[in-house]
Amino acid sequence: MKRVPIIAGNWKMNKTLDKAVEFVNVIKDQLPSPDQCRVMIAAQPLFLADMIRAAANSPLQIFAENCYYHDFGAFTGEVSPLSLADMGVDGTILGHSERRKIFHESDELINKKVLAALRNNLSPLLCCDETMGRKVAGNEVHWVVSRILTDLRDVPREDLSKITIAYEPSWAIGSGQSADPVQAEEGCYLIRQTIADMYDDEAAQQMSVLYGGSVNAENASKLMASEDIDGCLIGGNSLKPETFMQLVNS
Ligand code: PGA
Repeated sequence: MKRVPIIAGNWKMNKTLDKAVEFVNVIKDQLPSPDQCRVMIAAQPLFLADMIRAAANSPLQIFAENCYYHDFGAFTGEVSPLSLADMGVDGTILGHSERRKIFHESDELINKKVLAALRNNLSPLLCCDETMGRKVAGNEVHWVVSRILTDLRDVPREDLSKITIAYEPSWAIGSGQSADPVQAEEGCYLIRQTIADMYDDEAAQQMSVLYGGSVNAENASKLMASEDIDGCLIGGNSLKPETFMQLVNS
């Protein structure tokens, strides 16, 4: 089963509006066609409308980095999935390790967000982290599997094609020390097997699973050569257009 490679940038809380739009203008005409490689950038909500305008008629997909699970209401400071969809945002990262660690997001909350994104026709880019402690203690299998089981609870099989999952060990994020291709493949394989157990083999083979954590232009192609790694979620190295395009081209 051939899955289209994906390169996704996660800018986190970086850039200013003019730099965000400038980035889109620099890369938008250099991108491969979406059947060769899907390219997406996730940015702060304040930049998204202008980025969408700049990316019009290009294959670049614009993602949010998070959203809430209600469409409206008394939730001061939250971002509505309905508003994101209404603006023309393609999808949203959900359950990033930083949201789990700093903002104490649980799998139960992330599951509600996944369902809300799907209800609004936003593609979830669901992140699944894992700590070094769990790896050393040998219980990372249970950890990864239980995260996916809860995060995807009640997701109908027909909605799976809208979801991308990223395996991101928290010790590899922003550390400059990527998982090696064997470790990264293990995590992505485990996620795919969990999908096969929850749904079926065909669903698992169709699911795009990315690796994230200190991906750079040198290690990206080695990581992506692995059977179960369909692409990369890139933080620090997605911030400069030249470096990001090197990753797309690799
Ligand atoms: P990094 O971040 O590439 O800077 O390690 C990845 C991520 O947080 O998604």
